[in-house]
Amino acid sequence: MQMEPYYSHNDFVLLNGDSASICQQLSPNSVDCVFADPPYFLSSGNGKVRINNRIISFDKGNWDRARPSKEVHEFNTKWISACRQVLKPNGTIWVSGTYHNIFDVAICLQEQRFKILNIIVWQKSDPPTTISDQRFNFSAEYIIWARKEMKVEHFFNYELMKSMNGGVHMPDVWKIPAPSMWEKKCGKHPTQKPLRLLYRIILACTHEGDTILDPFTGSCTTGIAAQLLGRKFIGVDMSEEFLQLGIRRVEEISNTKVAEKFLSKMRENPEEVTVIVNHARKETRELMIEKGICYMRAGESDGSLQVTPGFEKMRYVLLHTGGDDAQLFHIKKGKEGSFSIWKKETLEQHGFHPEHAEYYIVIPFDNKPVEFTKPPRLKQRINTYRSKVRPLSDFTGLA
Ligand SMILES: C[S@@+](CC[C@H](N)C(=O)[O-])C[C@H]1O[C@@H](n2cnc3c(N)ncnc32)[C@H](O)[C@@H]1O
Repeated sequence: MQMEPYYSHNDFVLLNGDSASICQQLSPNSVDCVFADPPYFLSSGNGKVRINNRIISFDKGNWDRARPSKEVHEFNTKWISACRQVLKPNGTIWVSGTYHNIFDVAICLQEQRFKILNIIVWQKSDPPTTISDQRFNFSAEYIIWARKEMKVEHFFNYELMKSMNGGVHMPDVWKIPAPSMWEKKCGKHPTQKPLRLLYRIILACTHEGDTILDPFTGSCTTGIAAQLLGRKFIGVDMSEEFLQLGIRRVEEISNTKVAEKFLSKMRENPEEVTVIVNHARKETRELMIEKGICYMRAGESDGSLQVTPGFEKMRYVLLHTGGDDAQLFHIKKGKEGSFSIWKKETLEQHGFHPEHAEYYIVIPFDNKPVEFTKPPRLKQRINTYRSKVRPLSDFTGLA
C-alpha cells in the first residue's frame, strides 16, 4: 500500500478520505473479505423514533442525507467496483442496508458479476419504537453476502456456524441486540454496528491471518472484531472524528483484560443453546450415566451451580472428571432449561453417595453420548470443579 495511513498499528490500518478513491489505490486481489456499512441515505429530517420514552429524530448526519436514486446508484457503483478490484478471486463481500439502499446495492453487485449467496436479516432483539401509525415497526436490517466470482469457490465455515446454532444449519435470520454500553465506552457513532454481528460475519467467511477491508469504517466495529479474532484490518472513512473514535476503541482492546471481556461478550449469543458442564468423580460419573441423571450441590460452595444467563437455554450436559473423559449428552426431552431439587436421601436411594450438602440440583439426561471432537478447556487453575454454563459453540466437531 503506497498511501500514507492515517493510523497503523499491529495489522490495523486506517485511511482517511473518500472510500471509492482510496480503495482504487489499494493492491488488487489483496483482501479476503469486505464488510461495508455504507450510507443508507435515509436521513430526510422527518423520521422519528421513541427510545426510553424520548422522541428523537433518526437523522444520522450529512453523509447519510437522502439523495435521488440516480445519485445513489452512481455512488454504489463506484465504491463497489473499487472494492471488487481489491478482493481476491475467492473473496466475499457483505453490504448492510435498509430498503433505502439495499435494492440498489443488490443491482450494483449483480451488474458487476458478483454472485449473491444470502441476504441476512439482522433482526434487532430490542428495536426502538417507530413513531407512525401508518407502518409496521422497523426492526431489521439486511446484509447481502456475495462472492466475487460466479465460478470460484468461497470459504464458508459451515461447521462452526452450525455449532453456534445448536448443531443445526445456521439460518439467514439472526437475532442480535443493538450495541450495548460496553461497546460505547470510547464515544458514540450514530450507526454503530454490534460487535456480535461482526463476530459472526468474520468467523463465517475468514481464517485467522486473513485481511478484511471496511470502506465505511465509522467507529471501526469491523476492525475491533477483526483484531480480537486475529485478522488483519484496513478501514476507510472520510470523517477524522469517527476515525479518532476507532483509534480509541482499538487502544481500549490493547488491554488484555478488556480484550478477553469483549471476546466473551461477543461469544454470548442470546439465541444459542448452552451446555451445563459438571465435574464428578469417576465412579459417580459412571453411575450418573447409567441412571441418566447428574447432580450438583445447591447453594454457595466450590462445587455448586451458578445460575447465570444462558441457563434457561440449557440443552446439553457435559460430564468430566477433573478435565478428563468428557462426555456430552442431550438433556431429557421436555426437561430442557429446568432442574429439580433433591434431598441427599433421595440421591442415596438411587445409589449415590453425596457428602457435601443436604440439597442437590438434579438434571435428567438422555444417556446416549453426543459425538464431538474437542471440548472447551475444562481444567482451570481454580474452579475446575464448579459447574458452568457454556455456549455449545465452545465444542468443536459436534455430530
Ligand atoms: C453507516 S456508517 C458505518 C458505521 C460503522 N459500521 C460502525 O460500526 O461504526 C457509515 C460511515 O461511512 C462514512 N462515509 C460516508 N460516505 C463516505 C465516503 N464517500 N467515503 C468514506 N467514508 C464515508 C461516514 O463518515 C460513516 O462513518
